[in-house]
Amino acid sequence: MLTAALLQIAMEQTSAGPDGFNYDESKVPAYTLPDALTCVDGSKVATPTQWQSKRRAELLKLFTEQVYGRTPSAAVTVKEELVETAPALNGLATRKQLRLVFERNGVTRHIDVLMYFPVKATGRVPAFLGLNFHGNHTVSADPAIRLPDTWVEPKPAAGLTNNRATDKMRGFEASLWQVEKVIARGYGVVTAYRGDIFPDHPDGLAESVIPLFQNELAPGDWNAMGAWAWALSRIYDHLERGRDVDTHRLALIGHSRLGKAALWAGAQDERFGIVISNNSGEGGAALARRCFGETTKRVNTSFPHWFCGNFKQYNDKEASMPVDAHELLALIAPRPLYVASAAEDLWADPKGEFLSAKIASEVYALFGKKGVEVAEQPSVNTPVGVDVGYHIRTGIHDVTAYDWEQYLDFADRHFGKPNLKK
Ligand code: GCU
Repeated sequence: MLTAALLQIAMEQTSAGPDGFNYDESKVPAYTLPDALTCVDGSKVATPTQWQSKRRAELLKLFTEQVYGRTPSAAVTVKEELVETAPALNGLATRKQLRLVFERNGVTRHIDVLMYFPVKATGRVPAFLGLNFHGNHTVSADPAIRLPDTWVEPKPAAGLTNNRATDKMRGFEASLWQVEKVIARGYGVVTAYRGDIFPDHPDGLAESVIPLFQNELAPGDWNAMGAWAWALSRIYDHLERGRDVDTHRLALIGHSRLGKAALWAGAQDERFGIVISNNSGEGGAALARRCFGETTKRVNTSFPHWFCGNFKQYNDKEASMPVDAHELLALIAPRPLYVASAAEDLWADPKGEFLSAKIASEVYALFGKKGVEVAEQPSVNTPVGVDVGYHIRTGIHDVTAYDWEQYLDFADRHFGKPNLKK
């Protein structure tokens, strides 16, 4: 049950969007998108080899330098501290909690990873990996989940007035994760808290993972989005070393800002087998040039710590960006990609998310893959697409049981249904 205070928080997080922004389709400016299949030198990409050997690298460089910033490639020492392995969720799952400790240049940071695996699994399991907003303890009401000891966002309405996690928020995000449903379908769930990686406020840098590598940021350097994406790859490294997860069948999922981070992680790191963007909006799946709902200026102003310094030069100048969101999505090709919108989530520009998935599908076609081939945005609750999936569901900015059903079906189609013991 949500208390009134928690309901209030949920409402703050899901409102359609502030006033003073464009929510009128007739006011979307005329725009021309950069062509994903035309190289910087004007040559056309006609084969998967040309895409992989030339254009993909060009786009990755542009997104790195102009949008998300450069991520250092230096190695970091990682210690894996297993906290516990225990039966959980009424015997349906095994819960594993682990702390990844990173050390470099005399700096130490940790990321707590929470995992649930179905007890009926036979061998390594396919899994969903994603970051959570408010701490691992908010993903399920399971009382054994460790509270984060890093910065948490104050929530005065819920009595959280300092920056420390408390029991009050246990299970607060459970509906966004649907752990029991995912486990019943034979998949594992792996999650970590965004605040362990980069505390999500403009001064979060000092406590983030970035000081493992540097203390000052140049305009082309990574920031919170880059750090969150980096951490997803480090969690993948851990899973690859272990025996629980079939890392060839790992779906990366992210909601909203964490959907932007999931897309950026999936674009850079080709080991992620499926990438899912749930209502990621501006700086994620939505076309920036439409200037519908949240704008580049707004995201850079409200969240100056998310993108790289160079991205700010496109405030009110979306048309001059060398890239747009369809090219970020194309960087996932030919791996399966799912983009989801919500009808009342105008702030994230559902139509801009649809169009970007549809246009990115041209790159999938190059690989003989079938993306979103419908001419118009589908009606609500009508999923479309094969290798690029898309749906717009009824309701607000959120991750719901309906969204998860589509993601699980999509994973079954691409990874094969998980084998479960009878
Ligand atoms: C804000 C922000 C969005 C972001 C969202 C979220 O609304 O403007 O860009 O996606 O928060 O992460 O919930």
